[in-house]
Amino acid sequence: MTNNSLPPLPDLAPIWQSLQEHAEEIKKQHLRDMFAADPHRFDDFSLSLGEILLDYSKNRITGKTFELLEELATRAGLKSWIERMFKGERINNTENRAVLHTALRAPADARVIVDGRNVIPDVQRVLERMEAFCSKVHDGSWTGYSSRAITDIVNIGIGGSDLGPHMVSTALRPYWKSGLTAHFVSNVDGTDINETLVKLDPETTLFIIASKTFTTRETMTNAHTARQWFLDNSDNDHNHVRRHFVAVSTNSSAVQAFGIDQENMFEFWDWVGGRYSLWSAIGLPIALIVGMDNFRRLLAGAHEMDEHFRNADFLGNMPVILGLLGIWYRNFLGASNHAILPYDHSLRLLPAYLQQADMESNGKGVNREGKPVDYDTGPIIWGQPGTNGQHAFFQLIHQGTELVPADFILPARTHHPISEHHEILSANCIAQTEALMRGKTEAEVRQELAREGMPEALIETLAPHKVFPGNKPTNTIVIRQLTPYNLGKLIALYEHKIFVESIIWNINAFDQWGVELGKQLADIIEAELDSAHECSSHDSSTNGLVNHLKSQ
Ligand code: F6P
Repeated sequence: MTNNSLPPLPDLAPIWQSLQEHAEEIKKQHLRDMFAADPHRFDDFSLSLGEILLDYSKNRITGKTFELLEELATRAGLKSWIERMFKGERINNTENRAVLHTALRAPADARVIVDGRNVIPDVQRVLERMEAFCSKVHDGSWTGYSSRAITDIVNIGIGGSDLGPHMVSTALRPYWKSGLTAHFVSNVDGTDINETLVKLDPETTLFIIASKTFTTRETMTNAHTARQWFLDNSDNDHNHVRRHFVAVSTNSSAVQAFGIDQENMFEFWDWVGGRYSLWSAIGLPIALIVGMDNFRRLLAGAHEMDEHFRNADFLGNMPVILGLLGIWYRNFLGASNHAILPYDHSLRLLPAYLQQADMESNGKGVNREGKPVDYDTGPIIWGQPGTNGQHAFFQLIHQGTELVPADFILPARTHHPISEHHEILSANCIAQTEALMRGKTEAEVRQELAREGMPEALIETLAPHKVFPGNKPTNTIVIRQLTPYNLGKLIALYEHKIFVESIIWNINAFDQWGVELGKQLADIIEAELDSAHECSSHDSSTNGLVNHLKSQ
């Protein structure tokens, strides 16, 4: 249990204490009253960057809150950390790596030096190779072994080698090239690959094996199954594999060992974190399905957000504002979680994508120096697209006991203007943020029920159940339209938000040691499941489960 009473760094003690005192004041205030007192609240607490509007006025904040949070960011050295990241310093201290997903979307004439070498020409070279490959697939000059054009692309990867390309390809469905379909296989559960393969024709299918390390058990298992399926269902000629399997990785020797030619491997580098890698060659399925021009627009949108993050003052800086709000709720108002609620069916995978981006980055219990923290770090990220969530978990957000700060994300224009669908969707999105903010008082409930003619005794019984406390914080992000450019900006916004929080918490957002133990133990248990002997090397529960499975 953490208590949040002490700050992440001793230098932050005075401002941390001021924020704690200020939080006690804010806890006594209701958002409804804040709006009533200030008709300009929307103007004061909203910000536009091109086609993206952030309305953060429905948060439990005042001008003073942001004065204090700005000072917190300043004292934490946020400005210099931002520069250190962009300039390629090895800020991922436990892996001794630079953190340069921003270099992947920098202009061709930028200079970012790692180990005395400008990495931008390498980035551009891989982009050009991706472009050449995409053109060949699109114009039909890259064919399957039987000279038929490629119709299906299957990305095999997991975590960052799946979630980013999968989420973006799904979000950009209106931009898909005709004649091509993208599939994503990630789970080692054979159901995943089986359900995909049954739909495919080996003669027209291209597999992308995407793995930074090219050692991830799930991905390699699926890759071997896919190759075997291909051989079994074609003419079993290993020479044909090269027309149907390409790889994206940092590990060229493992790629070669798998049997994929160097010329069919698209590389990236150790300074690209898995969950920050969709901008690299890991984005190859995106480039194939929506075209390289649209992939470049995605990069350009992210670059605009990078420039904004790097240059704007903290109080006019979207990622900084979102990050500081995250700190405010987590460390001062006691929120354990944060909901991502896209009111856009195409963004239905965004909550899952941000779960990895945020929870794998900021789910840390020791600080950069390896000391246990005594304050809360990354929250639980969860969500679902609206309006579906309204009929599932919104009850808890409105009337439950847990504080759930939430981001509502809405495109102003839809790609599918079918009758009144988009108006209904938009109205629901905005209505939910209003309802969460205002709530409904007992007096309002009683009045409403009386107007409906309900007998007084029944009103007495029902009124408490129909009260909405309100005062529930939300951000609303309105995107003019979900284009590749705007999507790039949106994703980069969240990447930088996560970074801002990590700096205040003094944690390394770019390692993920917490995923290792389960992997190690799974290897041991896999061997035990295979063995003829009874398992007795673990605790009684683990032994019991292994032996039970063996007996089935
Ligand atoms: O879950 C751990 C992790 O290392 C993620 O960070 C990464 O995105 C994923 O596994 C996949 O790793 P790889 O791309 O090396 O297969």
